[in-house]
Amino acid sequence: MTPYLLVSRSAEYEQRLRTLLGRRLHVVTGEFLTFGTDTILDMAGERPRIALLGPVLNYEETRDLVEGLAERHPGIGIIVVREQRSDLEDWVDELELHAVLSPQAADTTTLDLLARLSDWLVANGRAERGDFAVPEEPEPDVPEVGGTIGSVEDLLSFEELVAEPGALDEAGADEASLSMAPDPSDDVQAPVWEFPPMPPGTRSEVIAVVAPKGGQGKSTLAINIAASLAEGAPNSVVLIDADLQFGDVSTSLALEPTATIVDAVAPEASDEIVLKTTLTHHADGFFVVASAPSPELGDGIAPRALARLVERLRGTFRYVVVDTTPGLGEHTLTIIEHATDAVFVTNMAVASLRAMRTEFELLRTLGLTPANRHLVVNFSDRMSGLTVKDVENVIGAPVDVEVPRSPAVLLAVNRGVVLVRSDARDPAAKAIRRLAARIAPDAVTGRTRTDKRRRSHEPV
Ligand SMILES: Nc1ncnc2c1ncn2[C@@H]1O[C@H](COP(=O)(O)OP(=O)(O)OP(=O)(O)O)[C@@H](O)[C@H]1O
Ligand SMILES: [Mg+2]
Repeated sequence: MTPYLLVSRSAEYEQRLRTLLGRRLHVVTGEFLTFGTDTILDMAGERPRIALLGPVLNYEETRDLVEGLAERHPGIGIIVVREQRSDLEDWVDELELHAVLSPQAADTTTLDLLARLSDWLVANGRAERGDFAVPEEPEPDVPEVGGTIGSVEDLLSFEELVAEPGALDEAGADEASLSMAPDPSDDVQAPVWEFPPMPPGTRSEVIAVVAPKGGQGKSTLAINIAASLAEGAPNSVVLIDADLQFGDVSTSLALEPTATIVDAVAPEASDEIVLKTTLTHHADGFFVVASAPSPELGDGIAPRALARLVERLRGTFRYVVVDTTPGLGEHTLTIIEHATDAVFVTNMAVASLRAMRTEFELLRTLGLTPANRHLVVNFSDRMSGLTVKDVENVIGAPVDVEVPRSPAVLLAVNRGVVLVRSDARDPAAKAIRRLAARIAPDAVTGRTRTDKRRRSHEPV
């Protein structure tokens, strides 16, 4: 149960309230107003007791929300979070508000106001004390609110707050000059996972792992590339399982995700914090966007939504690794379009090599040859009857990395562990680490230096 609802277009304010209220706060970003007030009301949670509306909502939007909330949740307390004072009297006259609060108000003022309003709602039978209780799981203490709260006299102060603009000063509306920086005395709720900040100007990399045919080793490579990069850039790597129908990354990693790519592209996840809750953390220091729970749900994801997800995750992560569906469907083409690096995987069967040649030609025709191409021959095997030179001749491009066939690969998958971490000396593990070093030399530790100049796109 989340007693507090915030509808706002300010990410900064949202973050600040989250710090203050933790899991008791439910946020619906104001952007959803584009879809109408009802959408917001549908997303408002089961039983909000206090709604904070604003900042950056206009009069009509606020009015519609106030009316809709009062109808759906009788007795709800309403606070408008608003900076401009000039037209405030109109708002106060025409809307049934309980308080107006400056977005710049100090944290203690905000908490004080919330405490007094909740006391008033309880005293008037509009809510129960338990509604505002902190959920069972322990969460960091909220800052101490000065003074005694909850006396019945506070009831009056809300009327004053609304009726008399002067009274707003006491509630912090004149604290506009205060900085938005958190009060040093405030406790800050620690996020479950740290997303290391990206220094300004850092160029994030999107690494697409693709193959024209199935079963060539895309998922194996994607997982092990992510883990290799995470060694040098812990928690700065996210692996998206964009094999939308039959993705198996979570299974291979023995993860039990509570959210999937379907949640990550849902409208709710336009909120950055909600998006982050759709990620599953792996103990080797990277995050996973798990595949859809069913092929039908995966099918429902539009290529555009996938591209947007990639771009959004680029804003947080240094490396975005994307596992894909075999072939050059619309989704995979979109991912390639957004990739800085593409790893093309094939085995040594002539049919696969020919398919790879066709894929390269098609990408060239479409003008979608990625900036950095890495051609990988997986399951490389002296007994295949072909040499690397033969492979290059069929594909018409140089092979960048050979990954040998190794029983350790399947063993790692069956144990739910990552090969490069569990069996670093295995020849396939070493080869994949070389591939990761080629993609991002700075991130891969203990690398054997590979020659980035061989990122040639020219045919042999
Ligand atoms: N170098 C290798 N040596 C031995 N087995 C391997 C190697 N690479 C991959 N495999 C095994 O081959 C199978 C297919 O690999 P993987 O799932 O990575 O391919 P994929 O391209 O993702 O397949 P799909 O198209 O079905 O998604 C898996 O069982 C994997 O463990
Ligand atoms: Mg796969």
